[in-house]
Amino acid sequence: MRNPGVCLLLLAMVSRAADLAGTWKFEQTGRNGQKRVTTYVFKTSSGTFTGLVATATEQRDIVNGVVRGNQITFDTHFEFYEPGRIDSYRGEMNGDQLTIAPVNPPQGGRGAVPLVLQKTSNETVFTPAPELARTHKPFPPFRPIPPNGLAQTPPMGWNSWNKFAGRIDDRTVREIADAMVSSGMRDAGYVYVNIDDTWEGTLDANGVLQPNQKFPDMKALADYVHAKGLKLGIYSGPGRKTCAGFEASYGHEEQDAKTWAEWGIDYLKYDWCSASAMYHRDEMASAYQKMALALRATGRPIVFSLCQYGWLDVGAWGAAAGGNLWRTTSDIRDNWESMSRIGFGQDGREKFAGPGHWNDPDMLEIGNGGMTDTEYRTHFSLWSLLSAPLVAGNDVRAMTEAAKQTLTNPEVIAIDQDKLGAQGFRVRKAGDLEIWKKPLSGGVAVGLFNRGGDAARITVKWEEVGVTAASPWVRDLWAHKDIRSDAEFAADVPAHGVIFLRVQ
Ligand code: GLA
Repeated sequence: MRNPGVCLLLLAMVSRAADLAGTWKFEQTGRNGQKRVTTYVFKTSSGTFTGLVATATEQRDIVNGVVRGNQITFDTHFEFYEPGRIDSYRGEMNGDQLTIAPVNPPQGGRGAVPLVLQKTSNETVFTPAPELARTHKPFPPFRPIPPNGLAQTPPMGWNSWNKFAGRIDDRTVREIADAMVSSGMRDAGYVYVNIDDTWEGTLDANGVLQPNQKFPDMKALADYVHAKGLKLGIYSGPGRKTCAGFEASYGHEEQDAKTWAEWGIDYLKYDWCSASAMYHRDEMASAYQKMALALRATGRPIVFSLCQYGWLDVGAWGAAAGGNLWRTTSDIRDNWESMSRIGFGQDGREKFAGPGHWNDPDMLEIGNGGMTDTEYRTHFSLWSLLSAPLVAGNDVRAMTEAAKQTLTNPEVIAIDQDKLGAQGFRVRKAGDLEIWKKPLSGGVAVGLFNRGGDAARITVKWEEVGVTAASPWVRDLWAHKDIRSDAEFAADVPAHGVIFLRVQ
């Protein structure tokens, strides 16, 4: 090396890279008081590096790492996202401290805050904690399994998460079951009462998963719910822990399925959560199928609901894995932005839906208070056009009249439950105004949606939704009125509102 300057610079880069090489940790205490450790392992080579980021729930690869002085840049890649997607970070080393921040921070999200890591060793090989060891045998090649015959129309019921999250218990489930009957929800078709996350206790000495102290006797609870003409659902996942950090089913899937069948469970929501730490992307379908087969082996009819946020094109394999429904998105929130982004984003998935196997754009927020009654009617119309599972997520014990009228509108429910089982799709979009249609066993359902903030007039020509009759029979499903119409129809649609029609 002739140039001493370049030589010194290279030396500095190499020594900085050597400083970076090793294991770094970031510790934080979650809302529930549990300690969460994020481990970064960097492997350096001159001025570049690779490595991985590991938590108790996932591992991401570190790629494209570059060291310049005490500054570093790198990308992370999560194998469960689309292959090309990366997240970029920059960092600064100061002795045994490394501060890391995303290059494009998500707006207002948790990920925007810089992390201060401490170097804990020079170890460049990651060894997962013993409780994160992957102990499963390799899966045989994936083969589709035949349908279980359940959910010939989209499942209807109630789930605890949207309203109660961790505050669900035996008493509340019983009261909800009572209210499902007294409010008319059961008779409108809502039969599944589903307990979501936070019911789980620990495995007993025989490896049998027990409920925690909030649910003293699951069998007695199932008997109570069944006696009301309702069915009981439960929640777990293929990882070691659920999303809320409770015991999930990894390594004891068959035993769990047996336990649930013995209790009298009728529906399982199986949520991916921490399973990214246990499985690779090419194992996901098999990890779901493992539970589908375990449920079937019990001989009890149990609806199987996949929840993995729509990753890896789940519509293409969810039914083959044994699923009756599969989530297509991340979690819904009780606001217009979240609901409308999810709902109007479902166009194109109709090819995967049909009797026995449904796309699930997540549970309903109707009655939770974050949207107007108009917006909730849009929510319900859209979900029924999408042949979505109708799983209410409100406090059924204390519903407003408007929430009840929306959730139990028989004419809208009939669209969702139409026996043809076709999922609706977008016909036309002009700015904030959209026309959607759903083919029915007789005629067609048509939604005229106004996503904008001001009332607007929407006109539809019947021929554009495939109706050829000269003056078809048209029914307004919210006004509960027949409408006279010729070749086209026009209506003023309120801001964030819908005119929902059945045309024959
Ligand atoms: C995930 C799911 C939610 C809910 C929670 C429970 O976020 O997507 O629907 O089940 O877990 O922890």
